[in-house]
Amino acid sequence: MNTEIRKIKDDAESEEAIRRAGEILKEGGLVAFPTETVYGLGGNGLDARAAKKIYAAKGRPSDNPLIIHIARMEDLDKITSGVPEKARRLAEKYWPGPLTMILPKADCVPRETTGGLDSVAVRFPSHKTAQKLILAGGGFIAAPSANTSGRPSPTTAEHVIEDLNHAVDMILDGGQVGIGIESTIVDFTEEVPIILRPGYISLEMLRKELGEVRMDRGLLKEGDSARPKAPGMKYRHYAPKADLTIVEGETEKVIAKINELAQEAQEKGEQIGIICTRETLSRYPNGIVKCTGSREEEESIALHLYEVLRDFDKCQVTAIYSESFNTPRMGQAIMNRLLKAAGHKKIYV
Ligand code: TXA
Ligand code: MG
Repeated sequence: MNTEIRKIKDDAESEEAIRRAGEILKEGGLVAFPTETVYGLGGNGLDARAAKKIYAAKGRPSDNPLIIHIARMEDLDKITSGVPEKARRLAEKYWPGPLTMILPKADCVPRETTGGLDSVAVRFPSHKTAQKLILAGGGFIAAPSANTSGRPSPTTAEHVIEDLNHAVDMILDGGQVGIGIESTIVDFTEEVPIILRPGYISLEMLRKELGEVRMDRGLLKEGDSARPKAPGMKYRHYAPKADLTIVEGETEKVIAKINELAQEAQEKGEQIGIICTRETLSRYPNGIVKCTGSREEEESIALHLYEVLRDFDKCQVTAIYSESFNTPRMGQAIMNRLLKAAGHKKIYV
């Protein structure tokens, strides 16, 4: 398949590209596009055939449901049945934005889109290009992250091209995204709202708005046998090719441990990668050292995490050691992704 790649700026040509992309979606084709969290791989959310195409392009198991993206508040009621008052309150507060809500689905949503479930995931993104595309494409765009299954989500159009060139009809290149990790998912199908995937909108922010909110048990304990409620969370996502280990503890001890492990591994002939922050960058003399951001600005760590993991896939490293990033607000979301990438391998010092 020939994939058309179009840069999106604030000009008439870009408007024309988005209009064309909308036509492609209406005809059942696939378009990758930027959102404020990560790039999405879009198809018509009300068309079962488009859902099948999305699964095929990503190499994704078809029991892993897709998020339907909307760009008008009133469209929420068209694809759901019975939105609880708490969900409406949250939509008022955080939409458009990096929040996905799981709600009972309306009949018009095909089971192919929801992975066979009676519920549907809905998100109203704040990214202007995403909003324009959703409206141009008919209003209901199913979009998983635009990576091939098992790779880190894309935060630039180049990442999308690496994974999906020739597998989609069009890629809208809107530059780097703003947040860098996927939306917070909140499940409203039970009495108490449940976080199925942590994200930029934190547990504290949700509790402030809703009162009682739980974390999905499948997220809480490492190695716990509880099954995550979001089907996609059970897969080992975001896995780099090299073996990744997280080292957690007091900063000086972490630096010493990582340097010790790196040296040992190098002596055995391994090629080492290290993931750290700007504050500790100069403290690692061995291996390829990559900085994911600054502890002073936790958003920067989230924004560059997937990029760093992808970069390491291009280097010939065989083992990666990472600092732990339990930052105050986004730490839960960042560590959820990093722990998965590490297959939950963590050393305490
Ligand atoms: O930030 C985001 O949410 C990005 C951008 C493109 O919007 N999208 C994204 O989609 O991360 P995806 O497909 O990569 O992740 C969606 C997650 C999966 O873990 C899936 O299992 C879960 O949401 N999910 C979708 N529908 C669900 C449902 N009805 N019930 C439970 N989990 C659901
Ligand atoms: Mg994904």
